[in-house]
Amino acid sequence: MKKSHTLGAIAVLSATLLLSHGNVTPQPVDTKGLAPIGKAWLDANPYVGNAKAIEIGNHAYAENCARCHGLDAVSGGVAPDLRYLDGGTEGDQWFMERIRGGAVRNGNVYMPKFEGIMNQEGMWAIRSYLHSVRVQY
Ligand code: HEC
Repeated sequence: MKKSHTLGAIAVLSATLLLSHGNVTPQPVDTKGLAPIGKAWLDANPYVGNAKAIEIGNHAYAENCARCHGLDAVSGGVAPDLRYLDGGTEGDQWFMERIRGGAVRNGNVYMPKFEGIMNQEGMWAIRSYLHSVRVQY
């Protein structure tokens, strides 16, 4: 009796986790302390190696990305492991394409878009954080 009760609880829990993937509210990022970038979208990360950006990006990642891409950027398997993104400008550009536009296929939102919610400074801060935990391969 006790055992089946536990299994039931696990089933409910995983259903809740699955639902929460489709129901995310992207959060703005407080980027106070970072040099402002201006309106034009940059091709390359202006904050790479910047300790303040890494710290802000770490929090912003935890709030906005971890539920799909995994705690501390270690993927739990639902979305790509972002520690393996290319470390150079190509990786910067791919990162920006995805974070700005999200990932939508056939009307299904696999990842929400963050453009209009998070400013460019916040996006590059997350990229700086991910760069700091990058796995070279
Ligand atoms: C609701 C779940 C979800 C959230 C929240 C989410 N993502 Fe994603 N992300 C995905 C999925 C799923 C994919 C793979 C999309 C595909 O298959 O086209 C993806 C792909 C990506 C990619 C491309 C990875 C690659 O290897 O090609 C990047 C970069 C990325 N996400 C960054 C982020 C960042 C940064 C955040 C937080 C600001 C974020 N994502 C939030 C689900 C999510």
